[in-house]
Amino acid sequence: MESLKGKTVFITGTTSGIGKSSAYAFAKQGANLVICARRLNLLNEIADDIRQKFGVKVYAFSLDISKRADVTKAVASLPEEFKKIDILINNAGLGRGLNKFYEDNPDGWDEVIDTNVKGLLNVTYVILNSMIERKGGHIINIGSIAGREAYPKGAVYCASKHAVDAITRSIRMDTIDKNILVSTIDAGLVETGFSKVRFYGDEEKAKNVYKGLTPLTGDDVADAIVFCATRPPHVNIAEITLLAARQASATISYREESK
Ligand SMILES: NC(=O)c1ccc[n+]([C@@H]2O[C@H](COP(=O)([O-])OP(=O)(O)OC[C@H]3O[C@@H](n4cnc5c(N)ncnc54)[C@H](OP(=O)(O)O)[C@@H]3O)[C@@H](O)[C@H]2O)c1
Repeated sequence: MESLKGKTVFITGTTSGIGKSSAYAFAKQGANLVICARRLNLLNEIADDIRQKFGVKVYAFSLDISKRADVTKAVASLPEEFKKIDILINNAGLGRGLNKFYEDNPDGWDEVIDTNVKGLLNVTYVILNSMIERKGGHIINIGSIAGREAYPKGAVYCASKHAVDAITRSIRMDTIDKNILVSTIDAGLVETGFSKVRFYGDEEKAKNVYKGLTPLTGDDVADAIVFCATRPPHVNIAEITLLAARQASATISYREESK
């Protein structure tokens, strides 16, 4: 296992779920963090807790990754000690609604595409260029099984995650001579804030997504991300697909009434 001690890890979407778990998991390994999301209060609480628990350096700032100019400015004005990013984890993302496409609310499409696709591009573009200048780095994209298979009522979210898969593979080719690793972690059902956001705050609907089985947790996915980031330098984990034990595909799960 390669050490993460003293490395700088930039994680998007760290106020909740997989991103928050990843922040703790990398800090536990001694990495310094650059963390961002839109909810600054939550982010600052997390940053303070991590500093206190693990004694690592954490730089936290509010960022909406869909705003390209803000992303460019924020990365350019990182404090000197956080400028050399070794690992970028493109995690921030969301789904909006679960409806047949012809009944869907178009407002959600922009949010999903602007965050999951354009937001990821915005962040990757600036950080990848700084990695190329420094002749090394690792980009880990948080895709989804929705990027491996389409499912009903998921046209736009599935499209956004298929885009993440294509971006991951293309960038891996583009940077093949640049000492850059590019990976994707594609999870199935993970119990986070995701479903609550997808259903615009409807807790009941969100709970039903995970009913009858034990879903993955943010920590399970963070484990896989840390694994991916700690292989020897000659190894690239191109992709990991992570499913709950009772989930076979995006549409096939085994659910028990008692759970
Ligand atoms: N949960 C699942 O079943 C599952 C499965 C496979 C893949 N994923 C993917 O995993 C990633 C993380 O999702 P999660 O499940 O951990 O959901 P979550 O608990 O809702 O966390 C999403 C995070 O993204 C941030 N975010 C959303 N829009 C943003 C924006 N425009 N700019 C900056 N930050 C933004 C949120 O922070 P703020 O609201 O504070 O900005 C939050 O911290 C997503 O890409 C999702 O598609 C989830």
